[in-house]
Amino acid sequence: MPSAVARTYAGNAPSRSVARSWASEEGSGLVMVVVIVYQNPGRRAGVAGVGRSLSVARKIAVATTVRCMSGCCDPSGYPEVFDKKTAARDVRSFLDKGLDSTAKPMVEALRSRGMEGSTVLEVGAGAGAALATMLEAGATGAVGIDISPHYVKAARLLMSDRGHEEKVAWHIGDFVAMSESLEPADVVFLNRVVCCYPNMVDMVDAAKGSTTRLLAMAYPRKRWSTRIVFGLINTWARIRRNTFRVFVHDPESIRRRVGSPDFEEVASGSTVLWHWKVWERTAGSR
Ligand SMILES: C[S@@+](CC[C@H](N)C(=O)[O-])C[C@H]1O[C@@H](n2cnc3c(N)ncnc32)[C@H](O)[C@@H]1O
Repeated sequence: MPSAVARTYAGNAPSRSVARSWASEEGSGLVMVVVIVYQNPGRRAGVAGVGRSLSVARKIAVATTVRCMSGCCDPSGYPEVFDKKTAARDVRSFLDKGLDSTAKPMVEALRSRGMEGSTVLEVGAGAGAALATMLEAGATGAVGIDISPHYVKAARLLMSDRGHEEKVAWHIGDFVAMSESLEPADVVFLNRVVCCYPNMVDMVDAAKGSTTRLLAMAYPRKRWSTRIVFGLINTWARIRRNTFRVFVHDPESIRRRVGSPDFEEVASGSTVLWHWKVWERTAGSR
């Protein structure tokens, strides 16, 4: 008997997987536009349809009180990029293959530092895969935040399917804008989220301020392959007249922003596109 979550997502095949790899700064240009248009000639006729779906996305954003009080991001683009289909794809991928290549080692590293009895705050929690895994690894309570209402809906369903719904509080909106109103947690987790946000400093500072013990974060590597992928994503968003953009923030600046004297790096790794790290608060730093 398939689970409720698997039944819900059965047959809801995602379209293109471009949004999977989240990309860099405005590194696109004419060559990228030519590549995208060449690969998707039908897109040129779809501007009216894109405009309609964008206005629907805007209404959803308003209806769900998505806030961006920091003034540096336009929330209207997120629900269109992180939509029902990408949420469905992420849930199916987790059910079929488990955690992705950055979430898995980050959760392992947190486990080895001791997750038993801890509280977790996941920013950009997506479809809830990492949060569910951390609860199953011994975390006792969690807060999940995502700017996309579609992802929060999918994540809630996943939690309820696994019996965790009572342990998780959900917020829809911009973490940076709401961080000061949230209770700090023992563990703060951001997997491939800072790259969706223009202001790295504000997001990293909000994440640091929200953890009492451990901070786990995956962010893009600064290399040509990431720039190409991210450039393609930004070009795709621009063609669709979507305000969403991805950013390759300087990894060294991220490390410096988190680093000593308040935090000590306790685990790290890399994949083709991403770096991930876990930091622990130093004694007396809070
Ligand atoms: C690339 S996805 C990653 C999702 C999930 N962490 C994963 O690895 O599968 C980025 C997620 O962050 C969310 N997001 C981006 N900026 C955000 C912000 N400022 N506040 C809350 N969520 C945000 C997006 O809606 C999206 O679900």
